[in-house]
Amino acid sequence: MPETMHPDAFKHIIVLVSGGGTNLQALIDAQNRGELGNGRITCVISSKPDAYALVRAKNNNIPTRVIQRKAFPDTAAYSAAMLEAFYEEYADLIVQAGFMTILDETICRAYPNKMMNVHPALIPSFCGKGYYGLHVHEAALKKGVKVTGATVHFVTEVCDGGPIILQKAVEIRQDDTPETLQRRVMEEAEWKILPQAVRLYCEGRLTVRDNKVYIKE
Ligand code: GAR
Repeated sequence: MPETMHPDAFKHIIVLVSGGGTNLQALIDAQNRGELGNGRITCVISSKPDAYALVRAKNNNIPTRVIQRKAFPDTAAYSAAMLEAFYEEYADLIVQAGFMTILDETICRAYPNKMMNVHPALIPSFCGKGYYGLHVHEAALKKGVKVTGATVHFVTEVCDGGPIILQKAVEIRQDDTPETLQRRVMEEAEWKILPQAVRLYCEGRLTVRDNKVYIKE
């Protein structure tokens, strides 16, 4: 069933999580402050049954689902189950917020420029296969870059390669560890630009042309 079939005036936002869910919390806080435009988080889907993100959703009366990769024989079957859930939830926008499981290309083809991801670096640095969570910050420190940050982008078939919506830079300190850097990138960048990007989407202000995102003033 097409995702636009629901009769609600608001946009249904589905958030995909796997872990602590601080980015989900930033979205919930923004929603509670009325800062998601006409978007509403209507379902949180976790790839892990014990993800703390699920507690955050339940504390805010947001319906949850758990869809575990290991319940399916391959990525194609897993992706098909996710797609079915998106249809059932009438998804208008899907947000990957610390979602660590691989989906196949059927998903982004079904939701072109309707699925976004937050990545904890300034793409195209420290991104792609193997760059997730703490590994991203370890790589930035190993390279000795002085500035890192976060990126929100639309999801395409290319891992971390879709059109960039928003980015924010964060300075690296000499005494940073992967953990301190991860925390600062979240606080100073991710928790700000992810809700902003969702709001821009819900306000209909994002256009994609030639793989670039244009934001209407
Ligand atoms: C965040 O830093 C997010 O950017 C990153 O995992 C963390 C999840 O934290 N995602 C990736 O690395 C995806 N490539 P959270 O569960 O507290 O939001």
